[in-house]
Amino acid sequence: MSSQPDKTIEALLLEKRQFPPRKSFQEQANVRDPSIYRKADRDFEKFWAGFARELTWYKPWKRVLEWKPPKAKWFLGGKLNASVNCIDRHVLGPRKNKAALIWEGEPGDQRLLTYRELLREVGKFGNVLKSLGVRKGDRVTLYMPMIPELPIAMLACARIGAIHSVVFGGFSAESLKDRINDQGAKVLVTADGGWRRGNVVPLKKISDDALSDTPTIEAVVVVKRTGQPVGFDPKRDRWWHELMAGASARCPPEKMDAEDPLYILYTSGTTGKPKGILHTTGGYLVGTYATTKWVFDLKDEDVFWCTADIGWVTGHSYVVYGPLANGATCLIYEGAPDTPARDRFWDLVERHGVTVLYTAPTAIRAFMKWGTEWPEKHDLSSLRLLGTVGEPINPEAWIWYQKNIGGGRCPVVDTWWQTETGMILITPLPGLTRTRPGSATFPFPGVRATILDPAGREVKVGGGYLAITRPWPAMLRTIWGDEERYVSTYWTKWSRDVYFPGDGAKRDKDGYFWLLGRVDDVMNVAGHRIGTMEVESALVDHSAVAESAVVGISDDLKGTAIAAFVILKEKKSGPPAAGLHDELRGHVAKKIGAIAKPDKLFFVADLPKTRSGKIMRRLLRDIAEGRVLGDTTTLADSAVVDTLKAQYEEKEA
Ligand code: PRX
Repeated sequence: MSSQPDKTIEALLLEKRQFPPRKSFQEQANVRDPSIYRKADRDFEKFWAGFARELTWYKPWKRVLEWKPPKAKWFLGGKLNASVNCIDRHVLGPRKNKAALIWEGEPGDQRLLTYRELLREVGKFGNVLKSLGVRKGDRVTLYMPMIPELPIAMLACARIGAIHSVVFGGFSAESLKDRINDQGAKVLVTADGGWRRGNVVPLKKISDDALSDTPTIEAVVVVKRTGQPVGFDPKRDRWWHELMAGASARCPPEKMDAEDPLYILYTSGTTGKPKGILHTTGGYLVGTYATTKWVFDLKDEDVFWCTADIGWVTGHSYVVYGPLANGATCLIYEGAPDTPARDRFWDLVERHGVTVLYTAPTAIRAFMKWGTEWPEKHDLSSLRLLGTVGEPINPEAWIWYQKNIGGGRCPVVDTWWQTETGMILITPLPGLTRTRPGSATFPFPGVRATILDPAGREVKVGGGYLAITRPWPAMLRTIWGDEERYVSTYWTKWSRDVYFPGDGAKRDKDGYFWLLGRVDDVMNVAGHRIGTMEVESALVDHSAVAESAVVGISDDLKGTAIAAFVILKEKKSGPPAAGLHDELRGHVAKKIGAIAKPDKLFFVADLPKTRSGKIMRRLLRDIAEGRVLGDTTTLADSAVVDTLKAQYEEKEA
């Protein structure tokens, strides 16, 4: 949620710097011909079919697109397998012994898997899953650290036609349980633990807590990563290495329909219940393949490093499917950017010769804060292109990144997209686009986006809501088990053929898009989406809490920080019990995960509400950010705000 949209717009309007592509980059770029935008727009089905033809199909599609708003089907009648396109396709050619994955653990241990080796591992795990009773269409939950076994497990699911659902390792037992139950998963794959800042994240222990109430789970496969002792239920749990030792590497791929599901990935929305976004096989693969190739200007010699955790969509599309479909060499790093020191990323770039780096504004802001001495210790001259994603990037951070990491020579691509879109939709093309710091620039060729006002009128120049007005291949197909929510969340703001992403945006007179953040009750905390309702429900779940209101407030590092206002049940006159403040923050972490822990939490006697009982979040944000209060004329009881503000200022002091 952009907490100060007016100020943001003002700041962005002042941003006049422009960066045309350098000649040396342009000359070698995958896309050099500007007429591609016009051509793709004129016949977008033909445009996407061109990329689809570069992939391997068992059976060609009969029709590129069937669009019965808001339901799209892409590459109808086509048959393919995602793992074959990500691996076998390369093993059959000169990339056979090329590094597919270069992995480094936080403690410094390393592994390299060539395409051929990756194929063997994926085949073996495919057979392991089959031996555990997993069949086409079954769901497999993956709750794992950033280790090679995670992409192996994803691709093994894809190979046998099972639907994977990765749950980010920072989520709590309760979040894991809810996701397993929502999708009715048959098998859970996890690890004893993973390394994060020198500590073990006890994934198996958390899984055990989650599994106390997951009736559909029949087996749990556990990777031995950290080696600490874990509970083991011999009836349910199996060690990965033991199962793999006896498995054959020959695993014939399932011939999947283009519209067969590939995965479910949960994301927050405006209610307390996360949405299971469903992506299918053909369109998703075409979209991620095409955007990886063009946006990152991918070449065979590149070492591509997308720093996102595979638990989020960025990791799905640009650590696994997009780069591997392109036959790239991908770096995967398990741990934190400041372990053992604040130059870990730059050390990785130097040692592995990373050429394309894709990271998030929140990380860039942290690097800025840590200072240039850390990147300066390393030779970063291998880098030739930089990307960013996840939240609006402030021009200072963009410039810092371009100068201190890119050495002033690398193009920066600010890419806008979402879990739901599956692929990058608004982005520069590095050999063509004159970039402006803070702007994601233009829709990818073949994609149509615009800005609409609440009534659905187009805003040619100025601010409004971002809208996507034409289907794209990697678009979500539904919300798992909740078709009605799919329609109402994304396709009813204006009409059933216009997609509403929930973001505010502005277009300048040259047609550049400037993304301004969420316009709904979803916060973007350090690039991760968390619903205010989710945090409120977690707080109200605590026995001491009567009511709560949660808002996102501006934060230099995280972009948005979480501020919670809490009314306790017992309205005692004295202050709340010592320790309750931390207990409540801890309770949210326990219910959702540490990423949702409120940064600030305040006990209040009342909350500002409209006459119809709606909490006035705008006012809470004004208070939490110490601003002059906005319009309070719709308040039911305007005295509430004054009391609240006085209480808050007292706490801050
Ligand atoms: O608000 C937008 C913001 O992140 C949201 C999507 O979050 P998620 O589904 O978790 O996916 C993140 C990675 C694709 C969007 O609705 N967002 C993402 N990229 C940008 C962005 N905001 C501004 N600029 C971006 N480049």
